Amino acid sequence: FPYTTLFRSGILQAAAELKKPIIIETSEGEANFAGYQIFVDTVRDLADELGIDVAINLDHGKSLESVKYAIDSGYSSVHIDCSAMKKEENIALTKQVVELAHAHKVSVEGELGYISGSSEVHEGEQPRSEIIFTDPKEAADYIKETRIDIFAGSYGNVHGIYKDEPKLDIERIKKISELSGIPLSLHGGSGIPEDQIKAAMNAGICKINVNTEIRKAYREALDKALKSKNAEIVPYKYLPEVIDVVKEVVKKKIILFSK
Ligand code: 13P
Repeated sequence: FPYTTLFRSGILQAAAELKKPIIIETSEGEANFAGYQIFVDTVRDLADELGIDVAINLDHGKSLESVKYAIDSGYSSVHIDCSAMKKEENIALTKQVVELAHAHKVSVEGELGYISGSSEVHEGEQPRSEIIFTDPKEAADYIKETRIDIFAGSYGNVHGIYKDEPKLDIERIKKISELSGIPLSLHGGSGIPEDQIKAAMNAGICKINVNTEIRKAYREALDKALKSKNAEIVPYKYLPEVIDVVKEVVKKKIILFSK
């Protein structure tokens, strides 16, 4: 119940208030927690009720099995992340996913290079030595061979918020965009300064993933609500203010990404 309420008011209502379409994603972990089918049904019902267009994406799918679950449950796109594999293995699995997904009119996001970190607030500085930057020529070959629809690259972006800011390699994004000709996605959208977001969008970024900033806002607002109403046990009495905080975070992102 609290989980669906988070989507209802925090994310989908932000899109509804601004009359914008939105992409809502789950990782495999989130989908396992909510239930793939329950998640899709809930989001589609809420989107219909609010009158908004919503795309539902599996984020960082790691296997053909989870991609199949997502497709069978009605996700409209899947991200297959084989970036930890050798390039040949990445290409082979991505091709299998594309074949399956396209047969169901589901689009595919593929990845090459390594985007490090996780969607959390980290203690230290960015793990720059872990980043494996995407080579533009290799990306173009990978995209051509796998026939993916959108590409997630590593251009200085990392997952999560660190003490220091990321420094995106805008020229690299531009080059990959020019050579590949398909939309590019930017993972690790939390904590990236606005000017870098704008420059990345101008260079070819069409989809931006934001997680940590939303998780952080949700958790801090929940702590605050529980503290101020510490005897309250009724979720619909302490959750509305939490949902409003999430909604405002998402609205700011939609406005920034629509400019
Ligand atoms: P952040 O947690 O840094 O926003 O990244 C989210 C993401 O890229 C999920 O794939």
